[in-house]
Parts: sequence; structure tokens; C-alpha cells
Amino acid sequence: MKRSVPVSLLALGIDPGSPVARYRQLYEGIRDAILTGRLRPGARLPSTRALAAETRSARNTVIAAFEQLVAEGYLEGRVGAGTRVALTLPESLLHARPVTDPRRAAGPRPALAERGRRLLETWGHRRPTGGPVRPFRTGYPALDAFPTEVWARLMTRRWARVSRQLLAYGDPAGYQPLREAIAAYLREARAVRCDAGQVVVLTSSQQGIEVATRVLLEPGDPVWVEDPGYPGAHDGLAGAGLRLVPVPVDAEGIDIAAVAPEAPAGRLVYVTPSHQYPLGVTMSLRRRLALLDWADRTGAWILEDDYDSEYRYAGPPLAALQGLDQAGRVLYLGTFSKVFSPGLRLAYCVAPPELVDAVVAARFQSDRHPPAVNQAVLADFIGEGHFARHIRRTRALYAERQAALVEAARRLLAGKLEVSPAAAGLHVLGWLPPGVDDRAASRAAAEHGVEAAPLAAFRIRAGGRGGLVLGYAGFTEREIADSVMCLARALEGRGAARSKK
Ligand SMILES: Cc1ncc(COP(=O)(O)O)c(C=O)c1O
Repeated sequence: MKRSVPVSLLALGIDPGSPVARYRQLYEGIRDAILTGRLRPGARLPSTRALAAETRSARNTVIAAFEQLVAEGYLEGRVGAGTRVALTLPESLLHARPVTDPRRAAGPRPALAERGRRLLETWGHRRPTGGPVRPFRTGYPALDAFPTEVWARLMTRRWARVSRQLLAYGDPAGYQPLREAIAAYLREARAVRCDAGQVVVLTSSQQGIEVATRVLLEPGDPVWVEDPGYPGAHDGLAGAGLRLVPVPVDAEGIDIAAVAPEAPAGRLVYVTPSHQYPLGVTMSLRRRLALLDWADRTGAWILEDDYDSEYRYAGPPLAALQGLDQAGRVLYLGTFSKVFSPGLRLAYCVAPPELVDAVVAARFQSDRHPPAVNQAVLADFIGEGHFARHIRRTRALYAERQAALVEAARRLLAGKLEVSPAAAGLHVLGWLPPGVDDRAASRAAAEHGVEAAPLAAFRIRAGGRGGLVLGYAGFTEREIADSVMCLARALEGRGAARSKK
């Protein structure tokens, strides 16, 4: 009978202190010996008893490693009755080295598709800001005001009596009671014309943008976007292979009459009418009617992103554009990212009735539906009146925080950054003196520990007056006051003084 190879040939460096399980170390050691040719096909392995003794392992541990290698086809035979390296290992496998670094791979590197390349391009310059959330990062609600206790209570209650229905695959259009709660809220608070059948629950407005493009547009189609506008939308639309046509925004909101006559007709227009992001203006009624009329005449779609309209400080919230739409051209998006927490990942869209099925199909293909229990808890939260209370409470809180920012800016930033109160939302826009480069000012702010996004980062067409976008809702008055002081120092410094070339 063929002799077994000496244990030393296997060169099994078992590390007793390693977090990797011992059976896994044995498995990898033997597999490596096979793949690097130290163990040839047909070679007989030492007995599990000998290997256990040599490596100071329990015999069952060695048996577990052998069984795994037999199951994967590296070894043959019955464990305990003579085990050898499989005779039929493909030659290519024997010469292959375990590849951990793609640069060491023998074959050609996988080429990205055009779509993949486009995605990487946007990812390169828009990687989300990491690190702790600090003033004045945009888009953050007050995470310290998250209704943790109520949420935890509702969550515990749901889990204590969780139904089979909530543990099974759910309706891709969303949990029905949540759809009803959202529809009722939108009809009452936002004058959106809808019933629950038109509401589709999403993980984010970002998903809503993706779903809309998949359902309504072909790659290469022109889409009109606000300029400056929301980078998440610009990137989402460009990433889907659409042609972005920048449309100027003025004090009345997006101005489609200013699109050059030779520009391609938009198949869809993305707008933030209640509170333009980032300029903060509200679209006038005149412009709303003109936009709806244009969409009706040309057969274009309107994607209305109503991301933070719960927060209006002067008077009641404004009615949504969707509520004025007679022709069914508006796809309406809303999110809970601004009202609660962006980490919750819950949002919704309201589709015209004839689009609902296609939207649900696209949504289903993305990820079927958001976690059902979270949807149920949110439905309870809205249904039991906590949602309305939370908005009232945070609206008052944000009004105070905004006032603290505007007041500190008036005292400390005069002549450096012109910050006026905003009627709505979670951020204000500060204008730099003409000629001051906002990217340089933003870099100077970062050096002083303050995040202040340059308006240039929201623009498609370069130029225009520089500004800094300051999110305030997520920060305490103390943090705001301290950060305004740091910003004042930053803007006194060299960075901000560098003018535009
Ligand atoms: C205009 C606008 N829409 C949508 C969002 C994000 O929403 P979601 O987290 O649901 O994608 C943001 C976040 O900053 C935003 O500014």
C-alpha cells in the first residue's frame, strides 16, 4: 500500500492564537499544499490520528477539515480509511495560485460595462462624506431628537406579537396599512391627490429616481434638471445613462422658458418645487402651471422630489405640485430620511394610476420591499399620532436652530458670508462676497473642522456667485455657535480670499 506523505510536507502552520477556527486553518493549509503542488494528485494523506497529534488538534477537528476537503473534491476516499488527493483535479487548478490580488490574476481583467464606468465616475467625486456627523453637514435631521423611546416601544410590541404575514415576503407595493397612512397624510398635509393604491413604499427617494428612470426612460433620453440642483438626482439620472440638460433656477424656481431652443426636449424633468435644493426658493404658482402645461403638451414626465416640505417655518406647508396636476404627468417622491433618520431607509412615491403596476414591478426587481416589520412600526407610529407630534416638535426645534445660526452668522460672519433666514427646510445658503471661490472657502472651513458644502458642487454649469450650503437641523445651538466661530476664522484665512481664476 502506498505510504502516506510526511506531515512536515504539508507545512501546516497552525496558529493557536488566531481568530480563525483551527479546523479552518487545517483545511486551508492542506488545500494550499494541493494548489501549490506540494501534494500531488493521488498522494496519500497522513492519518487523522497522526495529523491530530502532530498539530495538537482534536481528532474531530482534523476529521472536519478532511470532510470539507472531500466534499469540495480536493480529497478522495473515506475519512478514516485512507484519504488521498483527488486524481481528477484539473491541471489548471493545480497551477493556479490562490488569487487575492486581482493584479496577480492570469487572465484579462474584467472590463466594466459602460454603465459600470459611468457609476464609478460619479462615485469618484461624490463618495459620501464619512466620519462623525459634524456641523454643517447637509441633509441631516436632528438625530438627537429621534423618538427613540416610542419607536423602541412600538418595535417591541410588534415583535412580541409578530404575525406570519410580517415574516413572509410582503407586498412589493408596501405594507398596506402604511400605504393608507401615507396617503391620508399626503392628502391632508401636502394636498397630494391620491389614494393608497397609488402609494408605493420605497427604501429611499434615490430608489424612486432609479425606478422612475427604469420605467419611463430609455438610455440616452434627455432629462431636464435644476442647475444648481440635488447631486443625488444628477448622479442617479446620469448613472442611468440619461443626458442631463441643466435648467437655470431663479427666485421663482426652475425656469424652463430659459432652456435654449436648440437643447433637446426633456422626456422628464426633476424638480424640488416646495424648497429648491440647494437654493431654497419656492416655485411660484405661475411657474408650476407653466411646467404642468408643458409636460401635458409634450408628453414629458415630472419627477417631484418633496424631500423636506414638512419643515416650513413661515405659515403652513405649501401644497405639492402633484395636487395641481390634471393630466397625470407627475410622479411624486417623499422620504422619511429628513423627518426621522436617513439610516431608517424608508420613503415612498405616488404614481399616476396607470404607472402604478410598472413602478411596483421595477421596485420588486430592485429588492422586493423594505423590511416589513419596520413598515408596520412606521404605520403604527403615524396611526397613533406620534408622527404629527414629532413633526410639530422638530419644526419648533429647527426654527430655533436656524435662528441661532442666522444670528451667529450676523454677528461673526458679516462681510464674509451673507446668511439670510430660510422659510423652510434643514439648511440655509450663505452667499460669499462676489469673486470668492466657494471650493477654496469650503476647504478652508474643513481645515477648521467645519463642513460647508460649496455651491459649486451642486452646479452642472460652472460659474455664478459662490456660496456655502449649511445644514443646521442636526446640530445643537452650542455646536452651531462654536462652528460659526470656526467658520469665521476659516473665512478670514487665506483659503477663502483666493479668488476665482
Ligand atoms: C433633494 C433631496 N432629495 C432626497 C434626499 C435623500 O433622500 P433619501 O435618503 O430618501 O434618498 C436628499 C438628501 O439630502 C435631498 O437633499
